[in-house]
Amino acid sequence: MDFTDKDLVSIRDLDREQIEYILDLSKKMVPYARGEKVKRALDGKIMANLFFEPSTRTKLSFESAAYRLGCDVIDVSEMSMTSIAKGETLADTIRMVDAYCDAIVLRHPYEGAARLAADVSSKPVINAGDGAGSHPTQMLLDLFTMKEVKGSLDGLNVALVGDLKYGRTVHTLAQALTMFGVKLTLVAPESLQMPQDIVDNLKAKGCNPVKTSVLEDAISDADVLYVTRIQRERFPDPAEYQKVAGTYRIDNATLRTAKKDMIIMHPLPRVNEIATEVDDTPHARYFEQAFNGVPVRMAILCALMGGEM
Ligand code: NCD
Repeated sequence: MDFTDKDLVSIRDLDREQIEYILDLSKKMVPYARGEKVKRALDGKIMANLFFEPSTRTKLSFESAAYRLGCDVIDVSEMSMTSIAKGETLADTIRMVDAYCDAIVLRHPYEGAARLAADVSSKPVINAGDGAGSHPTQMLLDLFTMKEVKGSLDGLNVALVGDLKYGRTVHTLAQALTMFGVKLTLVAPESLQMPQDIVDNLKAKGCNPVKTSVLEDAISDADVLYVTRIQRERFPDPAEYQKVAGTYRIDNATLRTAKKDMIIMHPLPRVNEIATEVDDTPHARYFEQAFNGVPVRMAILCALMGGEM
């Protein structure tokens, strides 16, 4: 499968076959991601990391992925440190960065920023999160984690919990899961339910999600409980955030009726959605999930930048 020079901006850039190809390649990357094996498949290449919003896992795992493949990294972490602060447009900034590297990884507070970047860049653009829009590389590592633990994605019962309105991870993940015939339950306060256009999209692909605001309704049937943080920074009004902050908190008591092999995932960072006591249960998979960011992003970089594994 040839991914060379493609962009990875939203779910529209991938079909099931391409997702499976990336997941298979990610599996091969695991020993390299752990440093047990070494292969400089991207020796001499340069990846640019542009992170105009806070990030720990995504930024560092992209860097780690690049270095594990022998790829050099240039980066900027604040708009105030770029000529954007002097009035340069994002499009012009991207045109410049395009000339300095072989692939651009962009995180930006505005939905649509990565698509704009992809339109002006001649090099592959990877969306590392655009506002409340998409987060396709997180989706791939989420699918990888589910597949690794559960053996297969087909027919799983997945509950997405928390901020489904502003959460870009769940926007992308829900749409990807429909390609695998997954049963979806959308658990959110009414005001933070999944946007209607995405629900329509899920339905058009044959998935009829169950919506509820009651977490307990979803726990006993779930194979995967995918928990998210309420995205405080996206609320236009802090008072609206206060109304929903802390709506769901998962602790060992909440999990009483859960299947023994139910797994809990979270893109992280968590605020208080999951009590730390849950970390010690076999349900907790979020730290493993965060590690999986490295092999999956290695696979993405390798595929888009034309590396041979
Ligand atoms: C997520 C994000 O940035 O959208 N974090 C991540 O990339 N692992 C989720 C979040 O910030 O809540």
